[in-house]
Amino acid sequence: MNTNKDWITRAQAVLPGGGFGNFDPALFIRDGKGSRVHDEDGKEYIDYLIGSGPMLLGHGHPEVIDTIQSQIGKGLTFFTNNAAGIELAEEICSAMACADQVRYVTSGGEADMYAMRLARAYTGREKIMKFEGGYHGMCAEAQMSLAPAKPANFPLAVPDSAGIPESVRDNMLIAPFNDIDTVRALLDEYEKEVAAIIVEPLQRIIAPLPGFLQALREECTKRSIVLIFDEIVTGFRLAYGGAQEAYGVTPDVCTLGKIIGGGFPLAAIAGRQDIMKHFDKSTVGADAWLMQLGTLSGNPIAAVAGLKTMEILRRKGTYEKLHATGEKLQSLFSQALREQGHDHQILGHSSLFDIVFTENEVHNYRSWLAVDHEKNERFNHTLREHGILKSPGKCYPCLALTEEDLEQTANAIKTAAASC
Ligand SMILES: Cc1ncc(COP(=O)(O)O)c(C=O)c1O
Repeated sequence: MNTNKDWITRAQAVLPGGGFGNFDPALFIRDGKGSRVHDEDGKEYIDYLIGSGPMLLGHGHPEVIDTIQSQIGKGLTFFTNNAAGIELAEEICSAMACADQVRYVTSGGEADMYAMRLARAYTGREKIMKFEGGYHGMCAEAQMSLAPAKPANFPLAVPDSAGIPESVRDNMLIAPFNDIDTVRALLDEYEKEVAAIIVEPLQRIIAPLPGFLQALREECTKRSIVLIFDEIVTGFRLAYGGAQEAYGVTPDVCTLGKIIGGGFPLAAIAGRQDIMKHFDKSTVGADAWLMQLGTLSGNPIAAVAGLKTMEILRRKGTYEKLHATGEKLQSLFSQALREQGHDHQILGHSSLFDIVFTENEVHNYRSWLAVDHEKNERFNHTLREHGILKSPGKCYPCLALTEEDLEQTANAIKTAAASC
């Protein structure tokens, strides 16, 4: 049987960088059940990565697996409309305040790319305002000032990837998250050119300051700019109705992914009918039409997995449990770190958060850049050694966590806090 080490060698031969580009390529997860996963050496971890978000119910939820298995017997993909895809769209429209209609794609990054293009088709304008440090997948626009090592003066965009034409940069306006004065000043200057503002309502783990999202909403309404909430992470997590429910601000369009595919590749653009109609050539005509199709869009297996996941999430007490578990975890982290005298803060939301080592406030990418990232690395490294799997910048609680998991996590946190 291949060990983790064997797989690393094999991966290095056939994959650039020895990995899929996502996570530490030295880690090979073999299987998962509930809140726990195992690597190829059989080492067990309590999973706070949960597939980077989709597995909110935990791994292999029996009801989701049954549903998937019964769909598999009927067929894997058809390229035509299918009933499950329509039911999922109906559920998204009833859950998300902004959603009259839905268009499926297969990844969150694709959804963001089309959401920005949709705003251009709708407004006839070209510029997109994006926040420094905001993550919207991998399309050219999204790669602007995602993680610049040396931030430029606003609104100049800095590409974070090779291979992007200069012309893309010229159509982006970069603004600081949580700074409505700078947003307003830029909009005053470029108003007639701006098609959309795209924002993660909870930017990575940085919460919006009170009033910030409301002010974005007002500015967009006043200036006929499309407000796009990237809810790939926050949708069905912060609340069933996503960040738009949790923060009480309704965008014009949102993008969804992760949870709505139940662990399969499915994402969506959802929004107001008068904007979404640009996906329909017969309504808007060839010139205003946004051409979009994809082989696996609305795939029935992904759709049934997402629908069943969402049905389980709607059950009484689910979000109360998720938030209570998240708060408990946060208090375990802060107690252990306080006891060891570490200046730290917990940023985010009970359903998604992380620790940063700093005594200063963190409201945007630049203040986040200034935190002690090396200490964070040491802390996460010890957690991993002690069976806690999390991403370097996020901790995702899931609904399968047990008291025993939390106890074991608390012990690992104490060890990591004592050694970082
Ligand atoms: C806020 C946000 N937008 C977009 C994406 C991209 O989604 P995907 O990885 O499915 O392309 C992610 C992925 O983590 C995300 O966190």
